Amino acid sequence: MKSEMDPLTVQILPEIHPSPPFSPMYTFTKPKPKPTISIIMLIVTSLVSVAITLGLLYVFCSLLLPGSSDFRYSVVIDAGSSGSRAHVFRYWIESKKPVFDFGEENYASLKLNPGLSSFADNPEGVSVSITQLVEFAKGRVPEGMLKNGEIRLMATAGMRLLNVTVQEQILEVARRVLRSSGFQFRDEWASVISGSDEGIYGWITANYALGSLGSDPLETTGIVELGGASAQVTFVSSEVVPPEFLRTISYGNVSYKIYTHSFLHLGQNEAHKRLWKSLRNTAANSTKDGIVTDPCTPKGYNLYENSQKDSSGLLAEESTLTASLQAAGNFTECRSATYAMLQKGNEKCPYKHCSIGSTFTPDLQGHFLATSNFYYTAEFFELSERDWLAEMIPAGKRYCKEEWSKLKMKYPEEKEEYLLGFCFSSAYIISMLHDSLGFALNDGRIEFANTAGEKDIPLDWALGAFILNTDAAYNGVSRKMFGFSLQ
Ligand SMILES: *[C@@H]1O[C@H](CO)[C@@H](O)[C@H](O)[C@H]1NC(C)=O
Ligand SMILES: *[C@@H]1O[C@H](CO)[C@@H](O)[C@H](O)[C@H]1NC(C)=O
Ligand SMILES: *[C@@H]1O[C@H](CO)[C@@H](O)[C@H](O)[C@H]1NC(C)=O
Ligand SMILES: *[C@@H]1O[C@H](CO)[C@@H](O)[C@H](O)[C@H]1NC(C)=O
Repeated sequence: MKSEMDPLTVQILPEIHPSPPFSPMYTFTKPKPKPTISIIMLIVTSLVSVAITLGLLYVFCSLLLPGSSDFRYSVVIDAGSSGSRAHVFRYWIESKKPVFDFGEENYASLKLNPGLSSFADNPEGVSVSITQLVEFAKGRVPEGMLKNGEIRLMATAGMRLLNVTVQEQILEVARRVLRSSGFQFRDEWASVISGSDEGIYGWITANYALGSLGSDPLETTGIVELGGASAQVTFVSSEVVPPEFLRTISYGNVSYKIYTHSFLHLGQNEAHKRLWKSLRNTAANSTKDGIVTDPCTPKGYNLYENSQKDSSGLLAEESTLTASLQAAGNFTECRSATYAMLQKGNEKCPYKHCSIGSTFTPDLQGHFLATSNFYYTAEFFELSERDWLAEMIPAGKRYCKEEWSKLKMKYPEEKEEYLLGFCFSSAYIISMLHDSLGFALNDGRIEFANTAGEKDIPLDWALGAFILNTDAAYNGVSRKMFGFSLQ
């Protein structure tokens, strides 16, 4: 029955006005004995009417609703230090402006580990994960729409840490895959983005989600993000900010003067490795049988043994940890050790004020969201939304002093690599947000989050990058985006 109706529908579609109801009958009815002909005609008539109705409905629907051909697609691959995530966005145009929606229908993402930067010795290896991410993206885009969709790759701190020659080798392998992906792609669309771009994109994501773009600058929300290799601090400041830390965004007639900085090496994993490196040096310098303790690793964790066998995780590059380095989890000491690391160089601060190292930071202003690893640690310890910074201290103290074997039993589901990080991260978060940046422990201005707004939009900088790029494309050379301009 179905296969008989198909040619009919196709026939009707192009000319909205149907051909006489009975004429199509000749295309699919066989001669039948006379007595049944009226019944057949009746059936045929109803079939034809159904087909016509469906055909007309289709035509009207495609006129009224955004049909599949009205959707546009865009892909942003966030090449981070711990992994690469492909974000696939679907949007449409209304009144010549792009309309975004980050619900399930219109947005999906996939992350593959490890990050591109781990292929420094073997750039070709990058093609495997990029190919998989491209395949994932293609799975979300109808075949015919591919050539109108755009694909970009933006790499962050993990790649920034590599020298430029190696960065280019890795990017070139990625570009080769992206050029043949079927999406629109230009070589400059695969790049290592600056820390301040990353900070600004994250700020746009948050304020887009919260609906605060266009409102009073002092009613916008700042972002503190703790990534794997870097940490970003971005917020509107009314202080005089040195130009290297200042970005201006205009939205309609409102101009936002934004302080932004990305602290390279101070992301959670890089900072943790840095601490191990300095402990290792101390141990190597100490007398022959001198034991050096690692206050950020719970007791009973064998650093030496695990660094010898661990080839992919946090300890990967720490294979030279010596047997004289002993885990002796102590939150208070870990907090002091990480604070010392954050303050290194502070005496050389050339500005009015430096909170971290010798980098300028204005006084905190407005409301903040703490994202990425700030969120994951707060979530792991099940801290309350209101008092999370204050609660982080007792939670970290309990965790740091616990035996490793007990922690493993208590959290059987958790990957060892993550369990190994939580004593460090709890102390590091306090020494960064409270001891260095100056958020009070009961400061209601800072919340931890990984989504924001009524629609729970993910607080991921890649969304902000997509919003900016897409808007720019529909507003021509001026780079004004539905009111946005970025300087
Ligand atoms: C970058 O690193 C590679 C491999 O480690 C090395 O051969 C090369 O000399 C370095 N280039 C620069 C400009 O430092
Ligand atoms: C922006 O312009 C509109 C009308 O042109 C005005 O009503 C509004 O107050 C302005 N907003 C700011 C922040 O200047
Ligand atoms: C001893 O410590 C200094 C800095 O304090 C460091 O530069 C040096 O590499 C260390 N020695 C060894 C053998 O690790
Ligand atoms: C942790 O270290 C501090 C300072 O060295 C010390 O006072 C405290 O007793 C230690 N806590 C534990 C549980 O060992």
